Amino acid sequence: MGVMLKVEKLNVNYGAIHAVRDVSLSIGRGEIVTLIGANGAGKSSVIRSIMGLTRSTAGEMTYTSPRNNAAIPLQGGRHSVVPTEERVKMGIALSPEGRRILPQLTVEENLALGAYTREDSRGVARDLSYVYSLFPRLKERQKQKGGTLSGGEQQMLAVGRALMSRPDLLMLDEPSLGLAPILVEEVFGIIREINAQGRTILLVEQNAWAALKIAHKAYVLETGAIALSGTGSELLNNPRVREAYLGG
Ligand SMILES: Nc1ncnc2c1ncn2[C@@H]1O[C@H](COP(=O)(O)OP(=O)(O)O)[C@@H](O)[C@H]1O
Ligand SMILES: [Mg+2]
Repeated sequence: MGVMLKVEKLNVNYGAIHAVRDVSLSIGRGEIVTLIGANGAGKSSVIRSIMGLTRSTAGEMTYTSPRNNAAIPLQGGRHSVVPTEERVKMGIALSPEGRRILPQLTVEENLALGAYTREDSRGVARDLSYVYSLFPRLKERQKQKGGTLSGGEQQMLAVGRALMSRPDLLMLDEPSLGLAPILVEEVFGIIREINAQGRTILLVEQNAWAALKIAHKAYVLETGAIALSGTGSELLNNPRVREAYLGG
């Protein structure tokens, strides 16, 4: 399996706070990779750096697009930093933490925003049907304002919006945050389905149990640094992970 994203020695500082310390990780094409860790561990800083939304202070990042197999440096060395919009066009998308949908816009308008970098209107229409087939509840509510949706529906809308850019690498920042257990299961089932249809997934989660169950590969982030890594099942059975993240 080819490597799709390689991150090497990534560092993020916010003033005196060294939030991400020499984080290296690699995501293979077609994989579900999860980054788990407690609140404040630096998960969002890593995923936002990959999207180009947070400026990292050091590190290299290379993205290999499955569209043409060209390895593109997103940052590092003598390369300039690739802007977020370019990363979206290359096939990277982020469903941000805390839903971040636009409450005054309808479901349909929120989804259309996810396709803002695209010019192929027929492809966009096809992807809209695809998103509605994944989330029938969004289709039923397409004319409703985003702010009137339940928490779970808003989370689905955020994931759907990220899919509207037709990403090859879909990144999800805590999609289970604040959801009832039954909805967590539903959302994770859909993440699996999206992956089975050929998209690569980077899943950031505090819900270690749910994330490790579906992940091919996992990294544990502790105070900004990678403490452990392995396959999803290796970490599910790791005593240290069980003690710290799975309630013993
Ligand atoms: N914009 C910011 N300015 C200052 N500190 C920040 C900012 N964003 C995050 N931090 C700090 O960086 C650390 C890591 O945060 P974050 O990446 O959001 O972790 P996580 O997503 O794992 O909860 C925390 O100590 C947090 O308070
Ligand atoms: Mg976070």
